Amino acid sequence: MSNPSLLILAGDGIGPEVMAEVRKIIGWFGDKRGMAFDVTEDLVGGAAYDAHGTPLTDETMAKAQEADAVLLGAVGGPKYDVLDFSVKPERGLLRLRKEMDLYSNLRPAQCFDALADFSSLKKNVVAGLDIMIVRELTSGVYFGEPRGIIEEGNERVGINTQRYTESEIDRVARSAFELAMKRGKKLCSMEKANVMESGILWREVVTEVGKDYPEVELSHMYADAGAMQLTRWPKQFDVIVTDNLFGDLLSDLAAMLTGSLGMLPSASLGAPMANGRPKALYEPVHGSAPDIAGQGKANPCACILSFAMALRYSFDQGDEATRLEAAVEKVLADGVRTADLLNDEGITPATTADMGDAVIAA
Ligand code: NAI
Ligand code: MG
Repeated sequence: MSNPSLLILAGDGIGPEVMAEVRKIIGWFGDKRGMAFDVTEDLVGGAAYDAHGTPLTDETMAKAQEADAVLLGAVGGPKYDVLDFSVKPERGLLRLRKEMDLYSNLRPAQCFDALADFSSLKKNVVAGLDIMIVRELTSGVYFGEPRGIIEEGNERVGINTQRYTESEIDRVARSAFELAMKRGKKLCSMEKANVMESGILWREVVTEVGKDYPEVELSHMYADAGAMQLTRWPKQFDVIVTDNLFGDLLSDLAAMLTGSLGMLPSASLGAPMANGRPKALYEPVHGSAPDIAGQGKANPCACILSFAMALRYSFDQGDEATRLEAAVEKVLADGVRTADLLNDEGITPATTADMGDAVIAA
């Protein structure tokens, strides 16, 4: 049997720097755990634009469609700000998400004990926190028609449309229930059924899907109340499922409960392929960080933890994923800190490579 395939798109700025550490870790899993991957590397974002005049070539798109999983670093940078919208680095990422139809965006908010002091909330509120937000990623108000800015009478009107079909709600709800089955068997669905028809439909369809998952304890919450509850006592949640717009806000909020952008992974999943694995793209939440690029300062943990998510959700290697996450946790507990995890100017920070090496040693 051939090895599972992994397409690496390191991208721009700190993308290639953090990805170099992930390459070491992939190598370690091959050497020490007998888990070899067929790794292909290609360009995305500004790097692809520089080489080919487009942020994602058709060839790269085809490779992404065929890979068992795609691991992406980050795209963008000031050098590309002058480019036309159609070829901006971000368009490469958007094309991947769109054409792979990655409708289920998983954003964990997990608080490593050693970093609990970094939270803006009290330590007892966040210590041990481990929740997952599932955000619908391909529909809703960001895509609904009609949209635009029109003239009406003697003023302009900005229009966007929140639109969800039953099948769009059904598929993201299913992915959230599946996830809840693998975790704490608790799912909270958030919408605004009190003021939005799309929210009423959302609640109905999620409730219907829930009948297929009787073991999962399902609850519903209005999204604004959900925001309050997330800051009041986030540990009441296990998995949260919500639409594209509310998910955008709530996942950023939840993420910051736990500390630095340099620690936050994500997964975007689509429909199962012929081999049963979901189409999948894994990437750190952070961007290309041009302010620290090329200086060996970037924290590679977000990208390393994104690979851990790939092990769990694409390759059914939950135990190996836990092994990798535990290594990151140990390194943090041992006090290894990149600059983003330090408040004290007097301490010399670990470099990107130091952090990667420490994770491997752990
Ligand atoms: P950013 O996430 O790149 O950086 C925000 C701040 O966090 C910066 O001070 C940066 O140094 C710091 N930071 C981010 N990741 C870090 C890490 N791993 N270790 C240590 N510090 C880290 O967001 P920003 O500055 O708004 O955007 C910079 C560029 O990245 C822009 O071109 C933007 O369009 C792009 N971007 C790309 C994303 C992606 O590829 N998914 C997501 C967000 C932004
Ligand atoms: Mg956002």
